[in-house]
Amino acid sequence: MPFPHTTFRPAISAVGLEDKPGMIGALKWQIRSWQQAGRHEWLTRAATFSWLQLYNVRDFLTIGRVGDSLRDGSFPDDVNAAVDEVCEGRLGAGIRPMQAPFELASLMREVSDRRPKTVLEIGTARGGTLFLLCRFSAPDAKIISVDLPYGRNGGGYPKWKESHYRRFCGEQQELNLLRADSHSKETVDKVDRIVGGDGIDFIMIDADHSYEGVKQDYMYYLPLLAPGGVIALHDVLPTDDPSIDVNRFWVELENDTSVQTKTIVADPEQGRYGIGLVYPVA
Ligand SMILES: C[S@@+](CC[C@H](N)C(=O)[O-])C[C@H]1O[C@@H](n2cnc3c(N)ncnc32)[C@H](O)[C@@H]1O
Repeated sequence: MPFPHTTFRPAISAVGLEDKPGMIGALKWQIRSWQQAGRHEWLTRAATFSWLQLYNVRDFLTIGRVGDSLRDGSFPDDVNAAVDEVCEGRLGAGIRPMQAPFELASLMREVSDRRPKTVLEIGTARGGTLFLLCRFSAPDAKIISVDLPYGRNGGGYPKWKESHYRRFCGEQQELNLLRADSHSKETVDKVDRIVGGDGIDFIMIDADHSYEGVKQDYMYYLPLLAPGGVIALHDVLPTDDPSIDVNRFWVELENDTSVQTKTIVADPEQGRYGIGLVYPVA
């Protein structure tokens, strides 16, 4: 099987490598720096592809824990506690979000306060943010989550995970999983058809982190935003990671008078992450 055309990097941010030094951590960093320098392309692709498959095998073996926890009702309703549980990997490392817990908790409080009835997430990956979006949206929310198999910055998910993600939803919620390129016109049309003219109350953009990619997601889906809706963008802080350039677009939004913006940042010096919220002015 040819290695996919992807800039997927081992989920370094997700596993908190800084806290887990040692041989595996060092190996991941080495692969990452080769990738960023454009060196040993075949080798880095092979390594990241294998890494992704290993994660999938681990998830396949541990996936029952999420279902068990949801069935026995032990999962907390409180936003902070829920975010903690997911980020600490107590539901299994397989759904740990690729986010800073403090920032994710603030974002989920915003979601919980709004209880959106229509939600679009671009960037499903291992389902960490999707899980929380399902928890804190309206009990009858329509939720759409888009991810491109082997996409940048995470690598998407295999088809067998769809049934697993469906267990995240409440009985009256509707989950639409689109394994597709968010930048394709067909995907935009599909999302539009699913939403059915009501508009989307909450959009989360956390997929292609290039300047062009994030801007395209924003421009394509902004027209589908419902009046009073909000768009969240992940990774708005400046970073020295050359594959992440969301900050350049974020600065443009901060200077755009047709919107109001707010940032959720745990520590301005952290050098990555940061969530930006955009509220179009009526
Ligand atoms: C950083 S991960 C998302 C993390 C997730 N929101 C979380 O924290 O749990 C980014 C995901 O976006 C997907 N992606 C990248 N480019 C995409 C595109 N053009 N269309 C759809 N998905 C894309 C990748 O496959 C990857 O799984």
